[in-house]
Amino acid sequence: MSQTAVGPLSGIRIAGVTKRFGPVGAGVTALEQVDLDIGDGEFVAVVGPSGCGKSTLMRLISRLAEPSTGSISVFGETSNLPPPDMGIVFQGHVLLPWRSILDNVLFPADITGRDRNALKPHALELLESVGLKDFAQNFPHELSGGMKQRASIARALLMRPKLLLMDEPFGALDALTREQMRVDLEALWLEHKMTVVFITHSIDEAVLLADRVIVMTPRPGRVETILDIGIPRTRGLHARRHPEFLRRSEEITDIFLSRGVLQRH
Ligand SMILES: Nc1ncnc2c1ncn2[C@@H]1O[C@H](COP(=O)(O)OP(=O)(O)O)[C@@H](O)[C@H]1O
Ligand SMILES: [Mg+2]
Repeated sequence: MSQTAVGPLSGIRIAGVTKRFGPVGAGVTALEQVDLDIGDGEFVAVVGPSGCGKSTLMRLISRLAEPSTGSISVFGETSNLPPPDMGIVFQGHVLLPWRSILDNVLFPADITGRDRNALKPHALELLESVGLKDFAQNFPHELSGGMKQRASIARALLMRPKLLLMDEPFGALDALTREQMRVDLEALWLEHKMTVVFITHSIDEAVLLADRVIVMTPRPGRVETILDIGIPRTRGLHARRHPEFLRRSEEITDIFLSRGVLQRH
């Protein structure tokens, strides 16, 4: 195996990945020749226009789908089984309406046959750290959209995953809630230091959160460029005033302008 910055047993290595749907020629190429290495504990954001293959990329990493060509290794594992050390958060909260918030957070323990009582203190801790300490016994319909999404994050973290995949997790939230969730996610990541792949179509969110931003081209999605974001942590709310935030956001905007993803008027 060739040597790159990420060792074979660490991080995520995506090599020469193409994903086609449907027959060759007549189908859709969602991703084309994607190469990407993500280090252990890194926070990476993937930003790109709608339909450029972001969700497909996430499904490939989580083994919900297989690449047409190329390979993906997650912490050295190349099999088609879902990596055990993985939590996923989607745009919709996907909480079970008949379970309390605490029981929803404990759901991964129940389906994997773990001792839920042993994990309960951890579940309660997580609920506290996402601001839902007082809502453990409530049901999803009693919570706001932001709170439900916080519960989903707590659930994704229950099994102490090494990898957290987030597919537009704040996409359905209002701007104010979204800003708060972003700040709180950074705090959670600084505490748990898992590897995060955060998918978004928001340039701001990508630059404010990530160590590196992967900018995708329109479909078929390729890696257009990768930007290191040097804004010091903890970034919090004021990161928006950092010159690096403005510089990097402008760089990405210019890329999207040149690709026709954005237009000037
Ligand atoms: N299961 C599927 N079957 C057929 N086409 C799909 C499937 N999933 C995604 N696609 C197509 O692949 C492209 C990329 O989709 P997706 O990864 O969802 O984009 P994004 O998340 O960036 O908006 C789109 O053209 C979409 O229609
Ligand atoms: Mg998507």
